[in-house]
Amino acid sequence: MAETFAVKLEEKSYLPDPRCKATAWTPDYTRAYQEFVRDPEAFWDRIARELVWFKPWDRVREWNYPYAKWFVNAHLNITYNCLDRHVAGDRKDKPAIVWRGEQGEERVLSYDGLYREVMRFANSLASLGVGKGDRVCIYMPLVPEQVIAMLACARIGAVHSVVFGGFGPDALAMRINDAEAKVLITADAGYRRGKAIPLLGIAREALTHAPCVERVVVLRRETPAVDLDPAREVDYGDLMVHAAPECPAETMDAEDPLFILYTSGSTGAPKGIVHTCGGYMVGTYYTTRHVFDIKENDVYWCTADTGWITGHSYIVYGPLAVGTTVVLVEGTPDYPDPGAYWQLIRDLGVTIFYTAPTAIRMFMRYGDGWPAKYDLSTLRVLGSVGEPLNPEAFEWYYRAIGGGRCPIVDTWWQTETGMQMVTTMIGEAMKPGFAGKPIPGAVVDVVDRAGNPVPPGTGGFLVIKEPWPAMLRTVHGNDERYRAYWNTIPGCYTAGDLAVKDQDGYIMVIGRADDLIVVSGHNIGTAEVESALVSHDAVAEAAVIGKPDPLKGNVIKAFVTLRMGADPGDGLSDELARHVRKSLGPVAVPAEIEYMDRLPKTRSGKIMRRVLKARELGMDPGDISTLEE
Ligand code: PRX
Repeated sequence: MAETFAVKLEEKSYLPDPRCKATAWTPDYTRAYQEFVRDPEAFWDRIARELVWFKPWDRVREWNYPYAKWFVNAHLNITYNCLDRHVAGDRKDKPAIVWRGEQGEERVLSYDGLYREVMRFANSLASLGVGKGDRVCIYMPLVPEQVIAMLACARIGAVHSVVFGGFGPDALAMRINDAEAKVLITADAGYRRGKAIPLLGIAREALTHAPCVERVVVLRRETPAVDLDPAREVDYGDLMVHAAPECPAETMDAEDPLFILYTSGSTGAPKGIVHTCGGYMVGTYYTTRHVFDIKENDVYWCTADTGWITGHSYIVYGPLAVGTTVVLVEGTPDYPDPGAYWQLIRDLGVTIFYTAPTAIRMFMRYGDGWPAKYDLSTLRVLGSVGEPLNPEAFEWYYRAIGGGRCPIVDTWWQTETGMQMVTTMIGEAMKPGFAGKPIPGAVVDVVDRAGNPVPPGTGGFLVIKEPWPAMLRTVHGNDERYRAYWNTIPGCYTAGDLAVKDQDGYIMVIGRADDLIVVSGHNIGTAEVESALVSHDAVAEAAVIGKPDPLKGNVIKAFVTLRMGADPGDGLSDELARHVRKSLGPVAVPAEIEYMDRLPKTRSGKIMRRVLKARELGMDPGDISTLEE
């Protein structure tokens, strides 16, 4: 890891309408944070009591560095809080899931409807021999059955491992084997840009290398229906017809595993991040309600796929624990046209919209005309997650989508954290480029290698200093990799990101620690240079890498995609170099600029600089299983 480094901070801030603050679940950030710091256990105890437990905890937290237990000896079932609680209360007929397919098909499941489907499918899984602690792999398109499958596992205490429906056979097989999944739940097809993606075919290929799977449940969507192999495959619909309707929620210990989710490490094979029942439930429930400020009549849309942590925490568990109406959309943001999302927001009356910077920049590239065609006045809160929301994208999102009216919550967190950790709580001043401050409940800081906080304006390592309820408990089958998170910087969980704080304590995430480029002894964040490039009118997206240089150690090479109508001729490269020099100084100026039609990205939208770098240096790009097709 690199040493600390200076960062020039330019600050602009936006104060949202004071009415948001007055009615927010956290109306006073500072007070809430102080309350948390004064007595963290009392803080989480109070939140946990808003949910239903079968048996209360003996202690809120047990911290045995680096191992934490939360809600010690408590019993619960997360699905009881996501379903039974609402059905027994007054949300029985409230829409839980509003699903839209690519061709405009719509399905609405009320809380009661979802509850019934989950119980039936839970019984179906049990009939296949799945029980508490067994691992079940879910490899499905973004359809309600994916959510039902996750909840059905949780209902009977099985541990789900969802694999994003865009992964190929090798990536799927690796994840199935690592988790030793007994059952695979899949579908014949997912739909993308009008084309069917043959999930079952991919799954069958994966299973030739994954002998642990005994049975495969197939949701059949295509007509005519595909043939199944009666020896191993069983139809989802058939199972449901024969399943008993009632399935009481299994009693789970707070520390029993809820799911495994794979995330790529900076080296080696993907890591199976393990989350547990109690703390994860409390952390996602609390953040969903307080960060998005969800009220009873909200219509909430998170555009992630349930195959990622964002989908687990902020499509499924958090929003359903809160009891909100969740919009689920299968398809791509610019299909059939770049106005598809805005039309959905208008048609469904979406009030809270949570998406990724890469999508925002793509929409920006298509221009203001598309969102302007639709009435987006139902929107109340906008969210962002996954990578730094650069100031240009912030401003565009704020203005063109939020009408200058909606607070933006840029949420920093990770698969490992399970829940959002840093953001600007609703009603607080927003600073473009900065995610914000630690949420009440999280102790996040920017430190040097020895763990000492660095002064404002000095970049360092983003760390978490206290355990939090939704934290990962281990890496499946490899606890040493878990301990590595806590061993790198003394006393801290090291997130692997570089960040800087300003004098008000706002945190700007600069990029991954491993994406830092050292040019002539100066550390330069890739995100910083990219942000500077993107702030030029001609540039849509940019990725920069370090390229070894005999004189300077490294030079910066930039890969750039242009906005519609921009021309790489006409001395644009010189112009961009001048632009970066002006904004960041000469040391940050790319030595080379290459224009591309598109940048290599992961399926979750992160630019894969590693792939660009490998290509540039003529090296093996390593594991590219997460690369978009
Ligand atoms: O580098 C940070 C970036 O995404 C990483 C976590 O990736 P993943 O586990 O796939 O989870 C993504 C969804 C939570 C972080 O280490 N990241 C995530 N959110 C932000 C971010 N970087 C800057 N700003 C954010 N809001």
